[in-house]
Amino acid sequence: MELLKIENCRKSFDGEEILKGISMSVNEGEVVSVIGPSGSGKSTLLRCACMLETMDGGVLSYAGKTAAHEKNGHVLYASHAELKEIRKTFGLVFQNFNLFPHYSVLKNITEPQMLAGKSKEDAEKKAFEMLEKLGLSDKAKSYPCQLSGGQQQRVSIARAMALEPKILFFDEPTSALDPELTGEVLKVIRDLAAMHMTMIIVTHEMSFAREVSDRMIFMENGVIRAEGTPEELFSSEDERLKSFMGRLSGN
Ligand SMILES: Nc1ncnc2c1ncn2[C@@H]1O[C@H](COP(=O)(O)OP(=O)(O)OP(=O)(O)O)[C@@H](O)[C@H]1O
Ligand SMILES: [Mg+2]
Repeated sequence: MELLKIENCRKSFDGEEILKGISMSVNEGEVVSVIGPSGSGKSTLLRCACMLETMDGGVLSYAGKTAAHEKNGHVLYASHAELKEIRKTFGLVFQNFNLFPHYSVLKNITEPQMLAGKSKEDAEKKAFEMLEKLGLSDKAKSYPCQLSGGQQQRVSIARAMALEPKILFFDEPTSALDPELTGEVLKVIRDLAAMHMTMIIVTHEMSFAREVSDRMIFMENGVIRAEGTPEELFSSEDERLKSFMGRLSGN
């Protein structure tokens, strides 16, 4: 089943077109990574998909439900109630963790669940379950500043997973981490992939993307320049792609 579909997404900032008609779809259970040079529009695409930014043009749908469509040159978003339902289908993990510093780890994970209507008891049960899965059972009472970057990122993954999304978006989940901590976060994402969690991952970690992805999308200057299986992209004869992958994978 197609969980996410984006058609002809366009977005400008200050008169400059940053996304120039991007179309992509993600099926249930697929892991898709988005790669490309800095400034190519990867984060903007993710933000449009998650509705943190409004599109200037295009169609966005989740599991067949239309979140936004275009009419007479304008993008119309679904009703507040419909979008609330649609937002439940996805979760987000950012580069900088975005944890509340004045909340304990436990509260960081329970609060969004309770806002979504769960009882405190159920939210805590789920939180402990997620913490255990991510190897953080002993950190429930800690505050974010008492954790390493890798642990904080795992808490933010636990927080997202506790809401039981159908799709998880990651925007450079390891770029704020040193290599050792990067490894522990990549392991968590690998485990999620093995469990067939549907994920869209913006990353500069080429070897990780190659290993974990079913499909890779290479963006440049606001367009998708290449798309395919990791094997297809890594064996591509496209000079631009070759130089980008070669440079970032350190070959
Ligand atoms: N809110 C904004 N206002 C104005 N310009 C923006 C805004 N967000 C992004 N841009 C511009 O859009 C372009 C694409 O940015 P984006 O963050 O999507 O790139 P990226 O591919 O994620 O890059 P990186 O790999 O460095 O994270 C950049 O030129 C950026 O300056
Ligand atoms: Mg970015």
